[in-house]
Amino acid sequence: MSAIESVLHERRVFPPSDKASANAAISGMDAYKALTAEAESDYEGFWARIARETLSWHKPFTKVLDESNAPFYKWFEDGELNASYNCIDRHVEAGHGGKNAIIFEADDGAVTNVTYQDLLQRVSRLANALKKQGVKKGDRVVIYLPMSVEGVVAMQACARIGATHSVVFGGFSSKSLNERLVDVGAVALITADEQMRGGKALPLKSIADEAIAAGGCDAVKSVIVYRRTGGKVAWNEGRDLWLHELVENESDQCEPEWVSAEHPLFILYTSGSTGKPKGVQHSTGGILLWAAQTMKWTFDMKPDDVFWCTADIGWITGHSYITYGPTAIGATQVMFEGVPTYPHAGRFWEMIGRHKVTIFYTAPTAIRSLIKVSEADAKVHPKSFDLSTLRILGTVGEPINPEAWMWYYENVGGAKCPIVDTWWQTETGGHMITPLPGATPLVPGSCTLPLPGIMAAIVDETGQDVPNGQGGILVVKRPWPSMLRNVWGDPDRYKSSYFPEELGGKLYLAGDGAVRDKDTGYFTIMGRIDDVLNVSGHRLGTMEIESALVSNPLVAEAAVVGRPDETTGEAVVAFVVLKQARPEGDAGTKIANELRAWVAKEIGPIAKPKDIRFGENLPKTRSGKIMRRLLRSLAKGEEITQDVSTLENPAILDQLGEAR
Ligand code: WTA
Repeated sequence: MSAIESVLHERRVFPPSDKASANAAISGMDAYKALTAEAESDYEGFWARIARETLSWHKPFTKVLDESNAPFYKWFEDGELNASYNCIDRHVEAGHGGKNAIIFEADDGAVTNVTYQDLLQRVSRLANALKKQGVKKGDRVVIYLPMSVEGVVAMQACARIGATHSVVFGGFSSKSLNERLVDVGAVALITADEQMRGGKALPLKSIADEAIAAGGCDAVKSVIVYRRTGGKVAWNEGRDLWLHELVENESDQCEPEWVSAEHPLFILYTSGSTGKPKGVQHSTGGILLWAAQTMKWTFDMKPDDVFWCTADIGWITGHSYITYGPTAIGATQVMFEGVPTYPHAGRFWEMIGRHKVTIFYTAPTAIRSLIKVSEADAKVHPKSFDLSTLRILGTVGEPINPEAWMWYYENVGGAKCPIVDTWWQTETGGHMITPLPGATPLVPGSCTLPLPGIMAAIVDETGQDVPNGQGGILVVKRPWPSMLRNVWGDPDRYKSSYFPEELGGKLYLAGDGAVRDKDTGYFTIMGRIDDVLNVSGHRLGTMEIESALVSNPLVAEAAVVGRPDETTGEAVVAFVVLKQARPEGDAGTKIANELRAWVAKEIGPIAKPKDIRFGENLPKTRSGKIMRRLLRSLAKGEEITQDVSTLENPAILDQLGEAR
């Protein structure tokens, strides 16, 4: 049975315990239904109410939703606020300055506590320093940093002065960084000398230097460098500045820049099915509201909770559930620099015990890889650690198969912690479809029901609703505050990617397939319906990897597809035609390794194909179209049962299907 079939046949149900629902923000299904009914009967009133209750407004909004230029929606537009004020100052003003905002654990285990008061001072100092570097409201600042307090401080400092940040994941190559610096028109770059992961120092500054040297970045006036390891770096006088020297003499007072709720808080690049990665543009008010509100609803956060989200700040999960969500509600969170397997594969569980984590949020891939090692080695098994403080578990980024769900539930949660399987995307800004820990009966592998105010539905290719039990295209029928506002610099792409005419131009197209259960209406996500792969919860466009491959001088043609993978969810499989004769044996292995290294250099190590197969050609129709469905079958090692009569060169299938 495939993973999806096993979810669809899943009959186990785990209702919330009395304890879980007792004090929950949304306690029981009746409370959930009351909120969804409120949103349905008065959509704008519902959003206005939570926006007033959850955020602090410098100038209250009078307009809620502006649909006059759909699908370019505006929310709370005449309201003014500042994200950093909401995430920091207001808690200090309320007397919580001494509360830990971040408990940071470094790769080597060193722990640093950062209170809200500390955070305020550090953010204000850097904000002042950025202003002195000439960074103004509306300017873009690229952040290329490891998991660090400095990363959060840098993002918040940009927000404080109204600069729009664009964080680039530290695993991306110099070429990817260059493309983002150019596309976003950055005036400054904040990076580090090196990052520490799993006991190893990896360069960042030298990659940043290469990225700038690659051209098109003349707008970048300053490169601010956080000294993480003290490793040697090249220095460009007049452009490069040490972060610690820069902030040393800055004042720790910085009046926040009050901006419209629609002011762009950040731009985050993500892969699409065609062309270059898209700069997903988010507003200040909308995303902040939903990050904060979902901390309360999905995670049921209380003042004493200790939250830990293991995502990197380079991804949307790190934006909404590290930098902005937990701080917006004044929570204490754990932040981790390293990797789950260093110095041993029990690191996550050990840290949960050490920091008394109560709410833990991670990716299915991490769980699946830890199942394997801990079933082989009792010393790193979650049962060997004190996980008694945990009360809620979460997953994000990819479908979780019922087996992994059950293992997580029993071994990590001790069969007492609800699991919130949160479905959402870079573009949605925050959770969309997820169980509520004190209300929703859980079914392993299903993300269950939309949050109040989120009008998710399943439609066919023409945009018509399909009945429950029938699979289709996942859409959202009404705009919501935390949705993306645009694709940076490319409004046409925003419209055609997310509000396609084929669906009537009004429905938000998520790019996922899904089905609702006949009886419960629960949603199950069936994976992407476009040419986007999800490898270990990371989005990769097949076209991006194909262009990287064909830019190698050896390669004539390449086609990339995904194959289900037990650990990473999907794996990248590349079919490659070389300009030279098809290599066999060791020669093939050698070139395959070269091409892997090439893709790592072009995009980043996360995009490396797991499997590369060489052919004299690719399976094509007589009109020259590559038959991708055949490649997908070949990648899986399936027997080809499809009709291949339209195929120009059927013999090629045997060659490409050969086990390497
Ligand atoms: C997938 C990550 C199943 C989905 C927050 C989506 C999921 C893409 C889930 C977005 C989930 C995310 N169950 N699939 N709970 N969460 N996805 O933009 O295919 O990196 O479209 O955002 O991840 O990935 P992104």
